[in-house]
Amino acid sequence: MPQAAHAHAPAAALSAHKSGSLKGRVRPPGDKSVSHRALIFGLLAIGETKIEGLLEGEDVLRTAQACRQLGAKIVRHADGSWSVWGAGLGSLLQPTETLDFGNAGTGSRLMMGVVAGHPIVARFDGDASLRKRPMKRILDPLALQGAQVLEQAEGGRLPLVLQGASEPLPIEYKTPVASAQIKSAVLLCGLNSPGQTTVIEAEASRDHTEKMLAHFGAKVMSEPYGAHGRKIALEGRPELLAREVRVPADPSSAAFPLVAALIVEGSDIVIERVMTNPLRSGLLTTLQEMGADIILENRREEGGEEVADIRARYSHLTGVDVPAARAPSMIDEYPILAVAASFAKGETRMRGLSELRVKESDRLEAVAAGLKANGVDCEIIGDDLIVRGRRVAGGGMVETHLDHRIAMSFLVMGLAAEKQVTVDDETMIATSFPAFRALMERLGARFS
Ligand code: S3P
Repeated sequence: MPQAAHAHAPAAALSAHKSGSLKGRVRPPGDKSVSHRALIFGLLAIGETKIEGLLEGEDVLRTAQACRQLGAKIVRHADGSWSVWGAGLGSLLQPTETLDFGNAGTGSRLMMGVVAGHPIVARFDGDASLRKRPMKRILDPLALQGAQVLEQAEGGRLPLVLQGASEPLPIEYKTPVASAQIKSAVLLCGLNSPGQTTVIEAEASRDHTEKMLAHFGAKVMSEPYGAHGRKIALEGRPELLAREVRVPADPSSAAFPLVAALIVEGSDIVIERVMTNPLRSGLLTTLQEMGADIILENRREEGGEEVADIRARYSHLTGVDVPAARAPSMIDEYPILAVAASFAKGETRMRGLSELRVKESDRLEAVAAGLKANGVDCEIIGDDLIVRGRRVAGGGMVETHLDHRIAMSFLVMGLAAEKQVTVDDETMIATSFPAFRALMERLGARFS
């Protein structure tokens, strides 16, 4: 059974080289957001939750381990499917060891919501990247619901010890930033509340938690709020019943072969079974505005999510202005969009990227530094990133700062740049896309 490594593997540099046309059909791994949630709902439901297509990346394996520590039995079958037998909502075990989430922001924050709604005490920790990320945004609403932080590192950071509430208070909470992680933590805590928990977000964030709540039998209502927002109301203490979950391919992982095909001359590829949930599709919209030759084939619904096979061909891209309101629907895709913009004619302005500063790295700075190291003209103005594209010299060494998406984005850049592009550490790619290199090589990408 795949296990998350106790610590990260030693750093290993990897270079990408200008490649011939990319050709073929590939299936990226399961969606990370859905995979974390499938395991967590399996923990909270009674009976056997079967999961098909689970992402077997380090982040998700950390969540699986935490679910076991809280009382779930989890098994991987020979055919690659997984089963979770839950402890049941309200019946979680007191963990005896630290819940170590490694690099996984989503796993740790969602699980804080789960723990906050149960009368147990848990210690949360993670790697050097996760220890830098803000947790106060999660802990603030959980405190309103009755949880208590017993210990924390400076500024509300990991490692921290959280004491859950025996009876979480029903609250109405307006999220200060568009974040599915904040929304999900509040709702997961609210599951064990005797009343109704309401979350209001001014900008709609990904809705996988709401969809899965309904799928597992909870009563949850979601309605529009203002111009771009949503109001979500959950009735507490539902009977969560185990269900089957089919995990579609992760659009955030599909983004790497997709952009690679657009920038490597002569490419023509199909990426299969990609989730096209509109709250995750901002990158597709933006690339199409840039003139990308992208066709969504076989559009269908699978396991409650919209999916399609995406055909992408080499394209002459043009710079565009990406509005801030689009950020929640493509928040993880800006590094790879910046790479696409480097090969586009003219200027691309990506607006309103303050949230990029608190991801696995400060992605705004990490992206700009990587672009500059490879001869791309770019600047940060306030929270906007401006990239002036066309010919990419390459030849640079990119610092990845324990960030998988920085590593994969710049390796994609190297496939079309004049000279090779090197990333200082490719090991973090295993957190979300362990087969990245093999999949890209199957299409014709060259690495060394
Ligand atoms: C995620 C939400 C996003 C995203 C992350 C996954 C989720 O984070 O960046 O990779 O699964 O809920 P925020 O909620 O902080 O925007």
